[in-house]
Amino acid sequence: MLHGKKILIGITGGIAAYKIPLLIRLLKKAGADVQVILTPAALDFVTPLTLATLSGHPVHIGFFDKETGAWNSHVDLGLWADVFIIAPVTANTLAKIAQGIADNYLLTVYLSARCYVMLAPAMDLDMYKHPATQYNIELLKQRGHQLIAATSGELASGLCGEGRMEEPEVIFNLIKEHFKTHQRFSGKKVLISAGPTFEAIDPVRFIGNHSSGKMGIAMARVFAEQGADVHLVLGPTDLTATHSNIMVYPVTSAEEMLDQCLFHFQDCHIAIMSAAVADYKPKKASDFKIKKNENEWSLVLERTTDILKKLGELKTEDQLLVGFALETDNGTSNALHKLRSKNLDLIVLNVLSDAGAGFKHDTNKVTLIDKNEQQTEIPLKPKKAIAMDISDAVAHLLGISNNKTT
Ligand code: CTP
Repeated sequence: MLHGKKILIGITGGIAAYKIPLLIRLLKKAGADVQVILTPAALDFVTPLTLATLSGHPVHIGFFDKETGAWNSHVDLGLWADVFIIAPVTANTLAKIAQGIADNYLLTVYLSARCYVMLAPAMDLDMYKHPATQYNIELLKQRGHQLIAATSGELASGLCGEGRMEEPEVIFNLIKEHFKTHQRFSGKKVLISAGPTFEAIDPVRFIGNHSSGKMGIAMARVFAEQGADVHLVLGPTDLTATHSNIMVYPVTSAEEMLDQCLFHFQDCHIAIMSAAVADYKPKKASDFKIKKNENEWSLVLERTTDILKKLGELKTEDQLLVGFALETDNGTSNALHKLRSKNLDLIVLNVLSDAGAGFKHDTNKVTLIDKNEQQTEIPLKPKKAIAMDISDAVAHLLGISNNKTT
């Protein structure tokens, strides 16, 4: 699976650097082409001679070759890699990557790289737990990088806790896993709706809901990372999705969301409607702020278009349509009804009463029901992991193998 894959390894100045020669050995034995970059601080922990011998390439350290004075192109190296893994990554490098600082060779390569990035932090427990580090980790996850969580155990300081770099064998398996799923949706256009909609009452007020868009954004990322061309129609939320394969279309109302979805549905292969769309909107939004006067006030609402249902009516044989069902009770029977009545290939059932599931949480617990009414329960896990399970179910329905690139 790794045969001929180009793996770039960045090593920063942490004691866990001593484990990287083993990772290089595993990758080389699996047929990968490996190149190594060392930061100046990493030189105190591992020798270039060891790494050059194991990788079969000279090790990259600075911008110029000391002997010849030739320029060591960070751009070429960044573009060479299929995967760039920085391990161990110290708190300092993690922070610089998060901010786009480029004051050493490794960091300039990072900024030039277009490939998938994996980061394996290693540091002392208080540094790892520090809000600044955790903030940077979250930021980098949102950027689409894979953060390989540090494990717990004895640390170089003598303290015991979280901060140990994951073992080389586990990192090796994660790299293999990446290539297994990588690019399986390349050439596929995926339409995703996410977030709430706001229906104007007047210029000041609206009818909205608690959706954060997190689940839909996680799906956009997961499909983009697997090579899909993702079009994300996103209702009003503070969150967004940044990835070179994702185009975001911000909308406010159900009507605007409908227009964008209809437009992009025409030539898409997969449509996933995860938005919490308002079912009703004020019949007439006032142009002026409505003043209070009486004790009671009634607002006349009218139905919005059910976007998912509409797409189900338009769907061709080559298109796959996924819907969500957000329920508080009778989850399975309501979801089955939606699956059938909206002509879906797959429905993702969320039950709001399940702890850790639904709006605003970073986790979710769902049941997938496919068009053959086959049910798969997915236990509570991070929304990105749920998104991965949904992408697996979609790949299965499309008959796409798990390792298209290998
Ligand atoms: N949906 C949609 N357009 C709407 C309403 C819902 O596209 N106007 C989609 C949602 O994005 C979701 C699915 O329909 O994929 C189900 O939404 P949900 O709110 O669970 O159910 P509804 O179909 O609106 O039915 P009800 O509110 O009666 O449960």
